[in-house]
Amino acid sequence: MKLKNSTTSIKLHDLHFKPFISEEEIKERIEVIGKDISKQFEGKNPLFIAILNGAFVFAADLVRAAKIQSEIIFIRIASYHGTQSSGEVKTVFGLDKDIKDRHVIIIEDIVDSGKTMHYFLNDLKEKAPASITLATLLIKPGALQFPIEPDYIGFEIPTKFVVGYGLDYDGLGRNFKSIYQLEKSKEN
Ligand code: IMP
Ligand code: MG
Repeated sequence: MKLKNSTTSIKLHDLHFKPFISEEEIKERIEVIGKDISKQFEGKNPLFIAILNGAFVFAADLVRAAKIQSEIIFIRIASYHGTQSSGEVKTVFGLDKDIKDRHVIIIEDIVDSGKTMHYFLNDLKEKAPASITLATLLIKPGALQFPIEPDYIGFEIPTKFVVGYGLDYDGLGRNFKSIYQLEKSKEN
């Protein structure tokens, strides 16, 4: 498949997406966040925790924009519907590093309802890190159902489905360099 340039709309499965945030805008914003993180964590050897799959592209750019000594690990948060009354259960895979007394910076692609981060942040707090910082590339304030307040936000966006720059629609779209927004719900 040949990737089109960012001025044209794209089609993934049955849906059409239009250009929304350009490669250049993303790059500029991440440079700013990287500088802020550098100032805040200089000399503290922070541990970045990137959430797979969606945050892999943002994580690669952010850790390089933060020009300080740091470490990074990648984890996956899987959710399934349990039988408890609470409904959904979240399981974390890959958090094999001792984070006690570490300055932890979570890298997430997008906070939608906030549910994933809500559960994960509670889990992390129990492991007694020195601090927890949340950096998310995107947030949909209109969709929030949990009290999540990221420390670093790339872009606040409307409650519409987006793809690209790590984010997917049913597996597709992660490798686009810019971000696209849902245009039409069905082909017509
Ligand atoms: P939350 O738990 O509702 O905040 O959902 C967060 C997760 O849902 C993200 O990490 C994404 O994997 C996925 N997600 C939410 N909105 C979008 C979107 O617009 N595009 C692609 N994935 C999304
Ligand atoms: Mg995600």
